[in-house]
Amino acid sequence: MPTKAANRAIVVRSVAVAALAVALCMPVGAQVSRQHEESSCEVCHSKITVAYQTSIHAGAGIDCVTCHGGNPTDLQATAMAAHKGFRGSPSRREIPGFCSSCHADRAQMRQYGLSTHQFEDYQSSAHGQAWLRGDESTAVCTDCHGQHRILPHDDPNSMVFPMNVADTCSRCHSDEKLMSKHGLPANAYEEYQESAHAQMLASGGRQSAATCTSCHGSHTALPPGANDIPNMCSQCHAQVKELVSQSPHGEVVKKGEMSCESCHGHHAILHATDELLMTSCKPCHQADTAAMGIGQQVYDLITTARQHHDSADEIVQAMEQHGLYVEELKGRIEETNTSLQQLERDQHALQPRQIEQGTVAVEALADEVASEFSEIEARLSFRRLLPVPMWVYIGLMVLFIYWKRKQTEPHRFTDTGAKPGTGRPPREGLR
Ligand code: HEC
Ligand code: HEC
Ligand code: HEC
Ligand code: HEC
Ligand code: HEC
Ligand code: HEC
Ligand code: HEC
Ligand code: HEC
Ligand code: HEC
Repeated sequence: MPTKAANRAIVVRSVAVAALAVALCMPVGAQVSRQHEESSCEVCHSKITVAYQTSIHAGAGIDCVTCHGGNPTDLQATAMAAHKGFRGSPSRREIPGFCSSCHADRAQMRQYGLSTHQFEDYQSSAHGQAWLRGDESTAVCTDCHGQHRILPHDDPNSMVFPMNVADTCSRCHSDEKLMSKHGLPANAYEEYQESAHAQMLASGGRQSAATCTSCHGSHTALPPGANDIPNMCSQCHAQVKELVSQSPHGEVVKKGEMSCESCHGHHAILHATDELLMTSCKPCHQADTAAMGIGQQVYDLITTARQHHDSADEIVQAMEQHGLYVEELKGRIEETNTSLQQLERDQHALQPRQIEQGTVAVEALADEVASEFSEIEARLSFRRLLPVPMWVYIGLMVLFIYWKRKQTEPHRFTDTGAKPGTGRPPREGLR
């Protein structure tokens, strides 16, 4: 046994010497060793060092030894001897407590303007609860933030930046085996990718669209109760929650028996269309009931208004293609579009009479644009007729001049034997 240990020490030492030589030859390595002249840890752990150097912790002057202990002046494996204060790397079980030894310490965090409730929040989450039960497969701090390359949460490369959150969560939540062990579906990510929220995040990079943590919270991630859902959504769709509470569903929603997801689903929340007014009711209401009748009424009102809007819009587009000035009309079409969007929201109250007021206004505005077009068209066809008298006049003038010339220079070519009217000399004359 002792020979094995001695062999290992020799290998480690030669690796260290070779690594140190390489480090000293490279300008970057030389810079690192000049900055922290004594850190032997960086010499042997070059890969981790590269990852670590871009992290927020490195920027704050925290080094390997702060977290792992050990002797950074020792170039041998003894740098990691327990009697040099080396603590090894924390196990998955230890990580939440380990990170929180600083992050839950107000005295340390205050100067950076960081809050200190992550650990407390974490313990209230589904993840933290599982951790408290001794479950090692649940998420710990490093699963969401990374091991060494931990970046500020608002850095676009951070694992917790809005655009990257879904990928971070899906490492576990798309893992069939892991999820079924916990009795959870593994389709959250897949379904979410289809949603209007994911599309908005992916296309425009609009950070305000919902990602996993906008709905579930980050450190407090819990399965939402039906009662929480309207609040969850109303962080961003405040007006809708109010409208739903005024609807015939208000009471049912208040009792927690129904929520936004009853009609929209929870992960695959698609762009809402008018058709949803018919299709989303079917699981709960039978055909030919009063409820479906009201849905149909609202549907008819909105789709009719949309038709008026669409045909006015088509007209304006055609006018624009013909090079006509339509800026003012386009402004009004935009106005009807905004009113339509408001109606898509207002229909949540399921009050046909209120919707009717809105649709009447939309139709009036759209029809106004159409009738304005007819006026313009009438004026245009008049203008197209304007040149006709002028052409008639020009034509008459040409005829008149021709007639005049014929009268003043009669039989000009007949004297020379040319064929009348051709202006050419006779061919015989040339021979
Ligand atoms: C001579 C090269 C060398 C030096 C110097 C060195 N290490 Fe290591 N370190 C290693 C090797 C090789 C391993 C892997 C050992 C193994 O797998 O048993 C390791 C393992 C580790 C581990 C993982 C241990 C575990 O519990 O899993 C940590 C943490 C670590 N080193 C930190 C440090 C720190 C901090 C320093 C500086 C104080 C340092 N090392 C200096 C070569 C070195
Ligand atoms: C902010 C605290 C922190 C700092 C600073 C830090 N580490 Fe670590 N390190 C950790 C944690 C936490 C783990 C365990 C990660 C895990 O298992 O998920 C770890 C694991 C390790 C491991 C073993 C696992 C592996 O990936 O091989 C090594 C080796 C290591 N660190 C080396 C270093 C070196 C070298 C530095 C300095 C460049 C350093 N660490 C700086 C927290 C830190
Ligand atoms: C030795 C104390 C210490 C330990 C241990 C520590 N951190 Fe930090 N952490 C800090 C300090 C200090 C900052 C603030 C640095 C700054 O703002 O310049 C910070 C910043 C952060 C940030 C960025 C906050 C922001 O602005 O978005 C995250 C994320 C983070 N740490 C996560 C972790 C995780 C995860 C662990 C455990 C693997 C950990 N920290 C361990 C001290 C520590
Ligand atoms: C399930 C994923 C997840 C876990 C687990 C997690 N975090 Fe976070 N953390 C996030 C997200 C996402 C953010 C981004 C800001 C937000 O949404 O709150 C964040 C932000 C932070 C921040 C900076 C912003 C703030 O809240 O002040 C710190 C510091 C932090 N986490 C530390 C920790 C620590 C320490 C742990 C372990 C006790 C931990 N995190 C566990 C996902 C996680
Ligand atoms: C390391 C793997 C892992 C990562 C990463 C992870 N989770 Fe989890 N998550 C789990 C496990 C395992 C459970 C089941 C815990 C239990 O047994 O209750 C869970 C449970 C949940 C639950 C509760 C579900 C329910 O109905 O009980 C929610 C919500 C959740 N995670 C959201 C998230 C979000 C949001 C993220 C990303 C910010 C995330 N998770 C990242 C592993 C992970
Ligand atoms: C727009 C809000 C929203 C977004 C975004 C969202 N969720 Fe959910 N999630 C919910 C709601 C609401 C439920 C509760 C469904 C229920 O109880 O019927 C839920 C349930 C869950 C559950 C419990 C199991 C299930 O499917 O019922 C997990 C796990 C989960 N979400 C993870 C995620 C992950 C991972 C992401 C990101 C890829 C995500 N969620 C994005 C709203 C959201
Ligand atoms: C009874 C079914 C139903 C319920 C409950 C419901 N919605 Fe809707 N929602 C619809 C229908 C139908 C549309 C599409 C209307 C249209 O486009 O004509 C819609 C459209 C939307 C839109 C797009 C229009 C807009 O407002 O910009 C959003 C956002 C929305 N709903 C959010 C929510 C939220 C948040 C909740 C919960 C507070 C909720 N919905 C509850 C049926 C419902
Ligand atoms: C973090 C903010 C945020 C949260 C939380 C949120 N949403 Fe959204 N939602 C958005 C944004 C931004 C859009 C994109 C609007 C657009 O297309 O212009 C959107 C789009 C939608 C749409 C499609 C609207 C359309 O134009 O057709 C529906 C439906 C919707 N959300 C429902 C919900 C429901 C239901 C919840 C809760 C389970 C929810 N949202 C939670 C921000 C959020
Ligand atoms: C999750 C089930 C559910 C969905 C989906 C749903 N409703 Fe309802 N609705 C109810 C319940 C429960 C009531 C109240 C009990 C009752 O009177 O039947 C109700 C009541 C109503 C009422 C009051 C009139 C009445 O019959 O008492 C109208 C109107 C109505 N719903 C329309 C709709 C329309 C339109 C849709 C689709 C856009 C829809 N509902 C979707 C469950 C649902």
